[in-house]
Amino acid sequence: MRTRPLKVALLGCGVVGSEVARIMTTHADDLAQRIGAPIELAGVAVRRPSRVREGIDPGLVTTDATALVKRGDIDVVVEVIGGIEPARTLITTAFEHGASVVSANKALLAQDGAALHAVAEQHGKDLYYEAAVAGAIPLIRPLRESLAGDKVNRVLGIVNGTTNFILDKMDSTGAGYQEALDEATALGYAEADPTADVEGFDAAAKAAILAGIAFHSRVRLDDVYREGMTEVTAADFASAKNMGCTIKLLAICERAGDGGSVTARVHPAMIPLTHPLASVRGAYNAVFVESDASGQLMFYGPGAGGAPTASAVLGDLVAVCRNRLSGATGPGESAYAALPVSPMGDVVTRYHISLDVADKPGVLAQVATVFAEHGVSIDTVRQHGRQDGDGEASLVVVTHRASDASLSGTVEALRKLDTVRGVASIMRVEGE
Ligand code: HSE
Repeated sequence: MRTRPLKVALLGCGVVGSEVARIMTTHADDLAQRIGAPIELAGVAVRRPSRVREGIDPGLVTTDATALVKRGDIDVVVEVIGGIEPARTLITTAFEHGASVVSANKALLAQDGAALHAVAEQHGKDLYYEAAVAGAIPLIRPLRESLAGDKVNRVLGIVNGTTNFILDKMDSTGAGYQEALDEATALGYAEADPTADVEGFDAAAKAAILAGIAFHSRVRLDDVYREGMTEVTAADFASAKNMGCTIKLLAICERAGDGGSVTARVHPAMIPLTHPLASVRGAYNAVFVESDASGQLMFYGPGAGGAPTASAVLGDLVAVCRNRLSGATGPGESAYAALPVSPMGDVVTRYHISLDVADKPGVLAQVATVFAEHGVSIDTVRQHGRQDGDGEASLVVVTHRASDASLSGTVEALRKLDTVRGVASIMRVEGE
């Protein structure tokens, strides 16, 4: 075994960074054996140097991240600060100064992954980011390496723990969105500003990364259709239960049409209680991958948190250090297929539509005609007259598979009918 250590610079020492440093220290001997050389924490860049960091030599702590990545003797930079800047510049500078990079930064990878891969390749260095998607769950490496000989057709999953916690609460207790969010905040699952999670930005970034790798194409955050889950109501859960379903915020990346394009989307959807994703509880994540030869694979586990995310970072660190020692690099960007990303209108799925309608003769026929005129075939219709005597009824229509564009046209036309008093909710039905 080589005795000269490989030097690691840590950018960020928050929830994840401190766990990375802790595991590097406590598992130092095992990591050295697995890599073939010891690894040494050579510097830790932080914003607030005064904070006490247990187990970290204060002499290693600096506020000058740029100087740290420019040192020239750093083998691997571990970036766990998140956000676009200064992370992007620091990573680029690290490559330019001879380091490989391990990152947990989903927003940056989803936005600028291609450019960062290009810089890494130009300098003959590695860029690894298993921790950017679904915390501890191995997903990037299985897609990039284990399934490299197969043809992935679909990636479908729950990739945001905060929203899964909230939806699970709503499902199990009948709580409304705000009540469930308040509990998630009190328990530390939701951040003070939960926008990135509840509006689906976090999941959309992960979907972009997964789609790009799965389909060997470039998929950026802007290519991902995104709907958050703040509009999901207790009534939606009641409707879902009536259909033997629950509601999850799903990230879905799939080949579209004849396979000449792909789609990537994040939105709440009903899924049957019999689907394995329906039983993913609390803040857990789970991802289904469907490939030609492998069939269905499911990856499940903790998708966030300091130690689980650090586990993924450390796995990458070991791989990158092994590459350094052998003078090789691991797989870079694979975008040769260059499949275009189709718009949401091309997505084909089933829909559950709740309408408030006038309770009088001919209304059902009128509504059915609108669906027919837009080429949307109805699977089931349920009508409940109201007891309050207001002359209205609730109509729930579940469609067969139709394009999102056809469904949007249908809903637009329904809204124009005098007899349709309101469209209470539209939800996609997946996983059947
Ligand atoms: N906020 C994310 C989640 C974890 O709730 O899953 C980091 O991506």
